[in-house]
Amino acid sequence: MARRMTKASVLLYLLTASILCSPAIGGDTVTPNRPLVDDGETGLISAGGSFELGFFSPVGSTNRYIGIWYHRIPIQTVVWVANRQRPVTGRSGKLSLETDGALVITDGKNSTVIWSSGPLALGNPVARLLDNGNFVVEEEGSDDDPRSFAWQSFDFLTDTLLPSMKIGWNLTSGLNRNLTAWRSVSDPAPSEYGTGFDVHGIPQIFLWSGSRRYWRGGSWNGRQFSGIQEMKTDNVFDMVFVGDAREIVYSFYMRESSVVSRLVISQSGMLQRLVWIEESEMWSVFWFAPNDHCDNMLSPCGPYGVCYPNESPKCKCLQGFHPKNPRSWDLRDGTDGCVRNTALDCRNGTDGFITLSSVKIPHTSTSMVDRSMSLEECEALCRRNCSCKAYASANISGSESSSGCIIWTTELTDIKMYDSGSGQDIYVRLAAADLGTFDQFSW
Ligand SMILES: *[C@@H]1O[C@H](CO)[C@@H](O)[C@H](O)[C@H]1NC(C)=O
Ligand SMILES: *[C@@H]1O[C@H](CO)[C@@H](O)[C@H](O)[C@H]1NC(C)=O
Ligand SMILES: *[C@@H]1O[C@H](CO)[C@@H](O)[C@H](O)[C@H]1NC(C)=O
Ligand SMILES: *[C@@H]1O[C@H](CO)[C@@H](O)[C@H](O)[C@H]1NC(C)=O
Ligand SMILES: *[C@@H]1O[C@H](CO)[C@@H](O)[C@H](O)[C@H]1NC(C)=O
Ligand SMILES: *[C@@H]1O[C@H](CO)[C@@H](O)[C@H](O)[C@H]1NC(C)=O
Repeated sequence: MARRMTKASVLLYLLTASILCSPAIGGDTVTPNRPLVDDGETGLISAGGSFELGFFSPVGSTNRYIGIWYHRIPIQTVVWVANRQRPVTGRSGKLSLETDGALVITDGKNSTVIWSSGPLALGNPVARLLDNGNFVVEEEGSDDDPRSFAWQSFDFLTDTLLPSMKIGWNLTSGLNRNLTAWRSVSDPAPSEYGTGFDVHGIPQIFLWSGSRRYWRGGSWNGRQFSGIQEMKTDNVFDMVFVGDAREIVYSFYMRESSVVSRLVISQSGMLQRLVWIEESEMWSVFWFAPNDHCDNMLSPCGPYGVCYPNESPKCKCLQGFHPKNPRSWDLRDGTDGCVRNTALDCRNGTDGFITLSSVKIPHTSTSMVDRSMSLEECEALCRRNCSCKAYASANISGSESSSGCIIWTTELTDIKMYDSGSGQDIYVRLAAADLGTFDQFSW
């Protein structure tokens, strides 16, 4: 086609190209000489056309925010907001890049600084919207190498996790990336609802409302978070968890780049994975949490209780245990949990273990983990240590083998029973008298 261009069309092409690259329309960068003004139509568009950055007003609001949304999706779906807490009230906002690399949003009428990314120490900065939705500030010409980003929006999550974004901790710098919900469809300010990692013991993911936690996604077992059963069927996503001395983070990647998916914490405090359905032009919920009676409280059946989402009553005591408070248990308040029928006899060495299969393993915030042990070594370790209440494999991602060792030395809470085939096995210590093959769950 290029070969058949006439002089006139070449001229027209150059003209349009120069308009496209002019400050007025498009491009994917903001530079100190080229701010982004709120004229209602121009924004940055990432090089591959996946994302767009600009001023927007949420549904039902006239406030103006700098946000990032999908360029190709007809329903404006905002995935990141810069000035969540302080909108520009009229159409006089401006996003500019200072000569040291600081991004600032100003209200043009009186030049009030509404939001700033904080000072940097760059000499020739450029801010660029990348095609994965990351808005980065770097030294001009540094090739979009992640190590050269002086600032990136991916470090400041709002309510959405996109592919290749990380949720969790950089343990070196102490940066904690968590998701916080919008207050309402018209207000992107952070609400009480959040989700992220607690790094105590074996790191676990939680949903919280202010200081109250209301759902435990659990720890990573090599395949999935122990509390997110639906992930087991995934062949659309690659899930990556890194838990080492440098960082504790989760991220996901799409196996097919044509599939568009995001993880979001909704305004009602629900964690959802959404997938864009091209044909019907809508977001479809792939999974969500909390999603059943067992998920609705942090530990609905208390210590040593097991929660069965599809049964009634939903709480049962572990084999060898009985309800601590039979009266409230009968009234279906299981939160007091269960107590042992027979005390353990560790010193005499007569205790044994029962296997509980297909479960969401209990709280791991006080558990110990050894990633190199075998299950046999794990059992021996638990048997030797009189405070050990249970043990399990730390990594069940191998198709046949599992590896590593988790030891619980405090009470076992928030065990949930899954349909067979998902979840994992846990081995619970019991006194010899309780090991019998009597009706396992007589309560
Ligand atoms: C600047 O304008 C904004 C909105 O128009 C207003 O909220 C703010 O108080 C003004 N600041 C100053 C210093 O006048
Ligand atoms: C953690 O943050 C520090 C300081 O910003 C950075 O140098 C380091 O690369 C980060 N670590 C990881 C694993 O991203
Ligand atoms: C979530 O992250 C933000 C920003 O790092 C932090 O201020 C807040 O305390 C975090 N919330 C929790 C519950 O960790
Ligand atoms: C351990 O064994 C001794 C002797 O057989 C017995 O007296 C004691 O009660 C046992 N300990 C427990 C905790 O059962
Ligand atoms: C038992 O294990 C716990 C947790 O690992 C540890 O703190 C305690 O020292 C151990 N006790 C013995 C006797 O080894
Ligand atoms: C978990 O096990 C799989 C398969 O055996 C292995 O590839 C992976 O590296 C293990 N992960 C950890 C954190 O040990």
